[in-house]
Amino acid sequence: MTRIIIEGGKKLSGTVRVGGAKNAALPIMAGSILSHGKVVLSNIPNLNDVETMEKVLSALGVKCRQISDGTIELAADGNLSEEAPYELVKTMRASFFVMGPLLARLKRAKIPLPGGCAIGVRPVDIHLKGFEMLGARVSLEAGCAVATADRLIGAPIMLDFPSVGATENLMMAAVYAEGTTTINNAAREPEIVDLANFLRSMGASITGAGTASITINGVKALGGTNYSIISDRIEAGTFLVLASLFQDSILIDNCSTDSLHAVIAKLQEMGAEIKPEGNGIRVKGPDRLKSAEIKTLPFPGFPTDLQAQFMAAMCLSEGTSLVTETVFENRFMHVSELIRMGAKLNIRDRTVVINGVDKLIGAPVMATDLRAGAAMVIAGLVAEGTTEVGNVHHIDRGYEKLVDRLRGLGAVIHRLEPDSNE
Ligand code: UD1
Repeated sequence: MTRIIIEGGKKLSGTVRVGGAKNAALPIMAGSILSHGKVVLSNIPNLNDVETMEKVLSALGVKCRQISDGTIELAADGNLSEEAPYELVKTMRASFFVMGPLLARLKRAKIPLPGGCAIGVRPVDIHLKGFEMLGARVSLEAGCAVATADRLIGAPIMLDFPSVGATENLMMAAVYAEGTTTINNAAREPEIVDLANFLRSMGASITGAGTASITINGVKALGGTNYSIISDRIEAGTFLVLASLFQDSILIDNCSTDSLHAVIAKLQEMGAEIKPEGNGIRVKGPDRLKSAEIKTLPFPGFPTDLQAQFMAAMCLSEGTSLVTETVFENRFMHVSELIRMGAKLNIRDRTVVINGVDKLIGAPVMATDLRAGAAMVIAGLVAEGTTEVGNVHHIDRGYEKLVDRLRGLGAVIHRLEPDSNE
């Protein structure tokens, strides 16, 4: 099993660069299915999830070609299949994003249900209900969601919850529907704005992305495009939390404060100095962070994808902090791992009570999911002694070359591959 080994307690400073946004890249790659031309995407992060999406698209008949580091070409100009393979879909929930564009393009799609994952049940009922509102017949067959339609007709859709994935899938499904679709109670995440901008660059008619009401006027055909993905606000947020734990300033390059207001406000409340600088954000931590309360919410609220990283920092904050998770029902797997490092945490229903301690002690721990993995790395960097983080494949899903970039800041950290000698 690959592990990340960290010698904690070293001072970090310098500059770290943020890559392209995974959660924007995945739906945009799926959106290439809608195009009759060539789609060239740049600022694509080199991550396992991106590779999985390429495999899903290839299995559907989309030609995928790497042009250079971070740039890929996708061409859905041949015969397309409507059926995505279970072996791939089961490894990544975001594979389900291909359903909307396939339904729009072929009027039929058969996609295995993504199943559960470490952070909760995560059904796709909101996606499927929306497809029905557009006129599709939806059924479940042998573990797959099947949608077929003679024609898709634009309609008003009201989401039961502002699901990010459902908003994206329905936006793509509606691109070729006849007439006007409005998605109400839509998710407002920056990744949705990026997807809308991408679709517009191919000729789609979409307004309101980034608000709770998105309007899509159906068009006949989308052409090709050259499009650059936004930078990853969750990766930026992860580095913001980390930098707040160090007293020498750190520049987080290639990111903007625009999509991080809730996160920056919270870190400032905890005592960090944070200000925009050039094309990035400069952060300097206080001698000791203060405690705080956070509650995860859909954007522009506090992102669930940064909850675990904040909790790691709060373990060392002065006083008692509270973290309430409202988006996912089971996203506290990292709590028991942090306790193994000496943190004082208690789970009370959907809230974790964190009593700040003076120090964390390095220990062998597990990355229980992607963001929990980042939290364990943060904890390891500020702990006394050696921390070994296992289940590194979770971290590799969302952070490109994390170890190398942390080394660039002065961290004493390395990967231990199964066949390498210690
Ligand atoms: C996306 C992000 C993920 C982030 C999440 C919330 C990607 C690839 N992933 O996931 O990193 O944590 O947004 O910001 O962009 N739900 C239903 N029925 C549905 C759909 C969702 O009940 O049909 C529930 C989910 O179980 C969950 C909540 O809604 O409890 C939020 O899910 P959603 O916003 O859809 O997240 P994802 O798109 O899966």
